[in-house]
Amino acid sequence: MKQHSEGNGRQLSDVAAIRQCARQDLESGAVTGSYSADRDTVPRLLDEALATELACTLRYRRHYFLADGLAAESVKPEFMTHAQQQLAHADRIAARIVQLEGEPNFDPHGLAERSRAEYVPGQSLESMIREDLIAERIAIDSYKEMIRYVGSQDPTTRWLLEDILAQEAEHAEDLRSMLQGMS
Ligand SMILES: [Fe+2]
Ligand SMILES: [Fe+2]
Repeated sequence: MKQHSEGNGRQLSDVAAIRQCARQDLESGAVTGSYSADRDTVPRLLDEALATELACTLRYRRHYFLADGLAAESVKPEFMTHAQQQLAHADRIAARIVQLEGEPNFDPHGLAERSRAEYVPGQSLESMIREDLIAERIAIDSYKEMIRYVGSQDPTTRWLLEDILAQEAEHAEDLRSMLQGMS
């Protein structure tokens, strides 16, 4: 694409070139000619993240229904809130995979293997919270790695991942304080 140099040395594309480029390959929808990230790797990483979010929403739901006793009263609604937010993350990731012309994998077969976080059911309230915290920490490291990988090559995916990462950090902090409240 034709570019020109601004006073600060940064390159900007010519408006006419952007217009021209947007008219080509219309069947590619949101993926324009300037998309420079790896078209195979990014959807594959997003599929792993999708599986992780789905496994996490299932685990949180189990914890919501099984949490019992006095100590569980304050924790139960948090489990459901987290479960719903994980599902919302999964939806946003699936939508991005479609934008990248992929097909999100919702196949229950192999879901646990595709997920980066393990599905550890947890029995006591404390072990449930601990397993959730471990899974959140895995999600945080995975998203950080994906953000580093995507770099500046796919700003839309990067923004999505950063937004999700911020919420995973809130989840981890919620769980850490729940754990502290139990001891
Ligand atoms: Fe999530
Ligand atoms: Fe989370």
